[in-house]
Amino acid sequence: MNNRAEQKKGSRGLMVYSSKTGNTRKLAQGIHQGLAEVLGTVRIAAVEENPDPAGTDWILVGFWADRGNADPKALQYLQSLEGHKIGLFGTLGASPYSDHAKDIGKRVQALAAEKNTVLGCFLCQGRIDPALTEQFKTLPAGNPHAMTPERMKLHQEATTHPDAKDIQAGVAACLSMVTSALPGAAP
Ligand SMILES: Cc1cc2nc3c(=O)[nH]c(=O)nc-3n(C[C@H](O)[C@H](O)[C@H](O)COP(=O)(O)O)c2cc1C
Repeated sequence: MNNRAEQKKGSRGLMVYSSKTGNTRKLAQGIHQGLAEVLGTVRIAAVEENPDPAGTDWILVGFWADRGNADPKALQYLQSLEGHKIGLFGTLGASPYSDHAKDIGKRVQALAAEKNTVLGCFLCQGRIDPALTEQFKTLPAGNPHAMTPERMKLHQEATTHPDAKDIQAGVAACLSMVTSALPGAAP
C-alpha cells in the first residue's frame, strides 16, 4: 500500500445523517459502504444519536432539503460543530442540477463554513413523501405549491431516487472530499 492509501486508511472519519422518510439514510448507508471499502472502518450515526465529533479528521453530514434549506436536525448538528473539516451530502425532491438545489447547497455550505472548513456538497434527488404530493394536489391554483403538470412530473421522477447511480456518484464525491481533508492535501 502506498503512503496516500495508508493515510486514507488511517483517517478517522465520522458520518452523521438526518433522514425523515429514509432517502438520506439509504444514501448515507451506500456512501458508508463505499467509503469503508477504501478507508476501512468509518463511524456512522443518525443525527438523533448526537455523535461526539471530537478527534475526527473529517465529518460528513447528510441532510434532506426542507423548505429551501437543510432540515432542522441537520442544521442543529451543523451549528454545534466548530473547527472541523466538513463534507456535506443530501437529498431533495428537485433536480440536483436545478437553481433551487444550487441555492440549498450554497446556503448549507455557507452555514457550515462559519466555524469550519467545508470540503464540498453532494446532492441527489430523493422520493417525495406521497402524503406531501397528495397535500399539494389539494392546494388551489395560484398557490406557490399548487400541483402543476411540471411539478407532478418532478414528483414522479423523484420516486426512484436515490438509486444505484446516485449512490455511486455520492461515494465518488465523498471520497474526493475526504481525500482533500488528509494532511498534506492541496488546499
Ligand atoms: C416538509 C418537507 C419539505 C420539503 N422541502 C423541500 C424543498 O424545499 N426542496 C426540495 O427539493 N425538496 C423538498 N422536500 C423533499 C425532500 O427533501 C426529499 O423527499 C428528501 O429526499 C427526503 O429525505 P428523507 O427521506 O431522508 O427524509 C421536502 C419534503 C418535506 C416532507
